[in-house]
Amino acid sequence: MLRVFLQVVVLLTTATSTSGDCSLRDFGAVGDGVADDSVAVAAAIAACANGGTVVVPAGRYLTRGGIELTSNMAFEVQHGATVLLTTNRSLIPVQEDGHYAPFLSAYQATNISIFGEGTLDGQGSVWWNFNTSQQEKPWFLYFEDVDRLRIFGVSLVNPPFWTVHPRRCHDVHIHDITISCDPPQIHFNTDGIDPDACTDVLIEDVDYSCGDDAVAIKASVQGAPGSRARVGFAQPSCRPTRNVTVRRLKSGGRGGFTIGSEMQGGIEDVLFSNCTSTGVSGIRISAQQKRGGYIRNVRFEDMIFDWPGDAFVFKNKSFVLTVDQDYGSGGDPCPGMGPSAEFFNFSFKNLTITHSPSGLRIGHITCPDAASCLDVSIDGLQFLDVPRPIPLTCANIHGSQVGVDPPENSACHMLNLPVAFV
Ligand SMILES: *[C@@H]1O[C@H](CO)[C@@H](O)[C@H](O)[C@H]1NC(C)=O
Ligand SMILES: *[C@@H]1O[C@H](CO)[C@@H](O)[C@H](O)[C@H]1NC(C)=O
Ligand SMILES: *[C@@H]1O[C@H](CO)[C@@H](O)[C@H](O)[C@H]1NC(C)=O
Ligand SMILES: *[C@@H]1O[C@H](CO)[C@@H](O)[C@H](O)[C@H]1NC(C)=O
Ligand SMILES: *[C@@H]1O[C@H](CO)[C@@H](O)[C@H](O)[C@H]1NC(C)=O
Ligand SMILES: *[C@@H]1O[C@H](CO)[C@@H](O)[C@H](O)[C@H]1NC(C)=O
Ligand SMILES: *[C@@H]1O[C@H](CO)[C@@H](O)[C@H](O)[C@H]1NC(C)=O
Ligand SMILES: *[C@@H]1O[C@H](CO)[C@@H](O)[C@H](O)[C@H]1NC(C)=O
Repeated sequence: MLRVFLQVVVLLTTATSTSGDCSLRDFGAVGDGVADDSVAVAAAIAACANGGTVVVPAGRYLTRGGIELTSNMAFEVQHGATVLLTTNRSLIPVQEDGHYAPFLSAYQATNISIFGEGTLDGQGSVWWNFNTSQQEKPWFLYFEDVDRLRIFGVSLVNPPFWTVHPRRCHDVHIHDITISCDPPQIHFNTDGIDPDACTDVLIEDVDYSCGDDAVAIKASVQGAPGSRARVGFAQPSCRPTRNVTVRRLKSGGRGGFTIGSEMQGGIEDVLFSNCTSTGVSGIRISAQQKRGGYIRNVRFEDMIFDWPGDAFVFKNKSFVLTVDQDYGSGGDPCPGMGPSAEFFNFSFKNLTITHSPSGLRIGHITCPDAASCLDVSIDGLQFLDVPRPIPLTCANIHGSQVGVDPPENSACHMLNLPVAFV
């Protein structure tokens, strides 16, 4: 009797705590992968507001998604723990704009961490297999207007759509995580990490093997018709993306390392280094016609593209490097900005391409007019065991090129004009 009484006291104390740990088990979670544990997750989050850690202990916790973290909160997914998104779409909460709520999100918050050795599982195959429009698929991890975001240790598997989408966030550090899909490589829109209108972002030691870009850096317009966001914008709003570093990322996925094509707000100061692609595609920097914006001060260094022929699923779609301002068309420029995009100061240094099948397309760097692509430099582009590739081509580029080996793999003739950027 006394024991029972003590347990109730402990339960009540934990449940009303405003700091410390809030374990899902103390809030009635079953953790058998069958029962709906959404209410327990929400209760643990509510109890741990203001400086607490929501703890997910070993077990499988099925939820309806729509999990929303608040400021000064950590979400710890422990070893052996998996939090799952239901495969029954009629259970997923719908937000005011008519879209499904993200699986896990935070809005207008500071100091959010998601960490641990456990797994977040979107059970995304039900979304990949339907002919569902992109707009209808729930985002997996979405953060809007968050200052100081940390994600580390966890495994993110089978996202329904983009895996991690920080938007208008500042001070983001994502490291030592795995993003994987089963089967790997074949499903579109399962991007890994998409920093969008964010500043001061560091992404390092990430393993990616889903079906789209490992990293796609964007600066999209928010509040434009058709775009989705929970926080309302009366007028379309734009912010630049600035200061993004991506290093030691391994992509075994279909896509690669991308900047754009949503870039109306402007993207600058981006460094990719020491990344490896064993997937299908390489570097892509693109703008869409008439959307305006700029991409500048971008460096890709010490990258390896290791593409053994028999591992190639999308052989004809593969390329090492493409830069273009003509990636389809759609959307409007940001308020007050002109319709043409500016590309300035791109450096591609020490890129090694190994083991491709015969006939690999190396790619192209093309701009519609010579004023819109300035100061592009290639310094070291090595090919090892890459038989009879289709050479790199360029059009309307100002810049320089050295160290292509063998030299015939580039047909580029850079316009070596003095650069005067205004
Ligand atoms: C950030 O949140 C954690 C809980 O996750 C808390 O312990 C810490 O005090 C918070 N930091 C600040 C500066 O508030
Ligand atoms: C999905 O959830 C709805 C609403 O609760 C329910 O009516 C339906 O039977 C569920 N579908 C499946 C396949 O479980
Ligand atoms: C999806 O659409 C394609 C062509 O639009 C069609 O061939 C395919 O059967 C559709 N798949 C499903 C599951 O409806
Ligand atoms: C760039 O972001 C990093 C965090 O990733 C930060 O440490 C650094 O101070 C930022 N640099 C500038 C110039 O703001
Ligand atoms: C490059 O990455 C490899 C593993 O991915 C690591 O061992 C090495 O230390 C990294 N080098 C730098 C300069 O970061
Ligand atoms: C070009 O970008 C690099 C960073 O990638 C930066 O250090 C350099 O100052 C930029 N050059 C100009 C002229 O802005
Ligand atoms: C070129 O990049 C490769 C792979 O990251 C690295 O091992 C090598 O040291 C780099 N070479 C130079 C000259 O920096
Ligand atoms: C793919 O490329 C191969 C040669 O590499 C060619 O024979 C085949 O027609 C191409 N397929 C398509 C769909 O372009």
